[in-house]
Amino acid sequence: LEEWRILPSSKDAIAALESAAAYLRTSNTPVAFPTETVYGLGADATRSAAVKGIYAAKGRPSDNPLIVHVSDLRMLRELLGKNKDDPDAIPSRYRALIERFWPGPLTILLPNPQPSRLAPEVTAGLETFGARMPSSPLALSLIKLAGVPLAAPSANASTKPSPTAAQHVKDDLDGRIEFILDGGPCQVGVESTVVDGLCDPPVVLRPGGISMEELRSCPGWENVAKAYKDHSELGKAAPRAPGMKYKHYSPKARVVLYESTYADGSGGVLPSDVEVAGATENGNTGKTNGHSSTRIGVIRTQRWKSGAGLECDNLQPAPVDQDAHDDEYLNPAYQVFKGHLKNKQGDVIGELFDIDLGHDTKRIAQGLFSALRELDRRNIDTIFVDGIDGELDIAAAVMNRLRKAASEIRS
Ligand code: TXA
Ligand code: MG
Repeated sequence: LEEWRILPSSKDAIAALESAAAYLRTSNTPVAFPTETVYGLGADATRSAAVKGIYAAKGRPSDNPLIVHVSDLRMLRELLGKNKDDPDAIPSRYRALIERFWPGPLTILLPNPQPSRLAPEVTAGLETFGARMPSSPLALSLIKLAGVPLAAPSANASTKPSPTAAQHVKDDLDGRIEFILDGGPCQVGVESTVVDGLCDPPVVLRPGGISMEELRSCPGWENVAKAYKDHSELGKAAPRAPGMKYKHYSPKARVVLYESTYADGSGGVLPSDVEVAGATENGNTGKTNGHSSTRIGVIRTQRWKSGAGLECDNLQPAPVDQDAHDDEYLNPAYQVFKGHLKNKQGDVIGELFDIDLGHDTKRIAQGLFSALRELDRRNIDTIFVDGIDGELDIAAAVMNRLRKAASEIRS
């Protein structure tokens, strides 16, 4: 596996991008590249063999369609079967959105013309395709140099949390792909918002980097509705975006999510060693990772104090694994602390790893997937996560991913 680390000052950046672009034009093995949301696994969207390579590398079910990434509107208009310069080629409902949010973390659904330039594997048999113009300069340059639209899902192995650093891609796909362009940690940290403006009212199929509030401020989008399951509808509505029906964002560890439901900021308190005992009763013990003692991870946001109410020794910094990667490049959004986990009698019964993602929603989004992965590296049995409030901002995307990752949700 060849990694090309692209630093802003790097003289080799252009050469690396050019090699990757040339490789993409002919290869049937995809290339991992950074976007502002998460790392993508890209292939020429016009060649079936190349697109099949994406599904193979990820182990992705072939009925889950891919997003097509373009570097400019002319490239998109061509995909719509229209004149490159025809200003009316793109449905007018999207005009305000494109002006305001592109390039950026927004995916729009468009009619796929017949015949289409897109390989049929991109759309998984649907009559629409999802398109996005990413804002990451590396992503834009790569698409432009390749000269073809890039079909790209997130560059994780299917079912795993999305990758927000090159190391995450390597952890999942080493041996399955040949190139990763390393552009450092992703700025947004959760995937793009997917909208369907072809129906009335328009709907959000997946919450993401552009919030409901931002969408509502655009003409034609004042009444945009949710077509994804949130807290109130969990378990009810049938999935609309094909990707929704699959297991998603799941680390190896069991994830227990505490919904943030109390307006006064109270509640959702993690019961101390009762909880830990619970984890240990579960199937010898809830120990999924072959350790003799309990290993608990805590991801804190707003309400929990360090250790989150579990009995533990003073927590000490436990830097992310130096052998595997250097911190700064992996993700600057949090620090890991480590301490002994104790029962009420004061006996040490295991280890506790503590990550504080802080109060700022943007930073929480930035660090979320990385934190889940970091705890997985440390062979945690159970991860307790403190949820956050806010269905109109990027918190909606954070909670949507956490609800999918969780095997248990408590309020
Ligand atoms: O931020 C992102 O969107 C990242 C980066 C790499 O661009 N990509 C990404 O792709 O998250 P992926 O494949 O992991 O998620 C794409 C989502 C899936 O839920 C899929 O079902 C939905 O978009 N989707 C794609 N095409 C669609 C279509 N024609 N109709 C409905 N949903 C579609
Ligand atoms: Mg994905």
